[in-house]
Amino acid sequence: MDIVIVADYQELSEIAAGYVIAHMKKKPRTVLGLPTGSTPEGLYSRLVEEHRKGGLDFSTVTTFNLDEYLGLGPDHEQSYRHYMQKRLFGRININEEHTHIPDGLARDTDRCCRDYEHLIESVGGIDLQVLGIGRDGHIGFNEPGGSLASRTRVVVLAPETVEDNSRFFSSVDEVPQLAVSMGLGTISDARRCVLLACGEQKAEAIEQSVEGPVTAMVPASVLQMHPETTLIVDEAAASRLRRKNYYRAVQEKREHIAQIN
Ligand code: GLP
Repeated sequence: MDIVIVADYQELSEIAAGYVIAHMKKKPRTVLGLPTGSTPEGLYSRLVEEHRKGGLDFSTVTTFNLDEYLGLGPDHEQSYRHYMQKRLFGRININEEHTHIPDGLARDTDRCCRDYEHLIESVGGIDLQVLGIGRDGHIGFNEPGGSLASRTRVVVLAPETVEDNSRFFSSVDEVPQLAVSMGLGTISDARRCVLLACGEQKAEAIEQSVEGPVTAMVPASVLQMHPETTLIVDEAAASRLRRKNYYRAVQEKREHIAQIN
């Protein structure tokens, strides 16, 4: 795992945007895997800005979101389709037909999950998967205790996740308990992953994901097995990493290594 420790949220968003933009420039038909939550909001704002000012072109880009609450339709303010529309899709020149999010209103959920996997496969897989992380180490909505090889499926949200996400709803009772989420196996198939984390409340999950054992109890730890994963964390989220100074030293040497190569 490459670990990039940044000063603050603004820098985190800038660097994350840099990864996305670099992928899009290298491969205009890039397939992006996208997260929701508060963490990627700065990244989406930067991409919108780059589109408006710098002409960043999304017309050939395809996206797959990680997850969606079961029971919420696209018009629901807290659905992830609504989130994406408001923060990114509705503000750039992406073809709506190229934006994919699991259907929160699907009647046949098994089929919806199977179709989602096939769709990802049919476009050649995900080039760059951006991820956030939950306090309990979840990525997408893959909660502790699931399979490290899981595929897109219906998942039950953990009580901590329901509580954390209740800040977006008028009460905790309104938070759906079920969701459709890409699995850890689906995420691991992406050619490259970038995990973003900021704030002290993520420090423990980051420590366990990076320096702990690979275990289904910390879903993000599966990324230790992924050959092309970059973790971008602010100082607070990195605060519990025991080998912080070493990661910093690697970061400083990276330019030098790039020159040798
Ligand atoms: C939700 C999403 C995750 C996201 C997590 C953390 O549970 N399903 O994909 O990473 O929230 O969100 P935040 O960035 O708001 O802390």
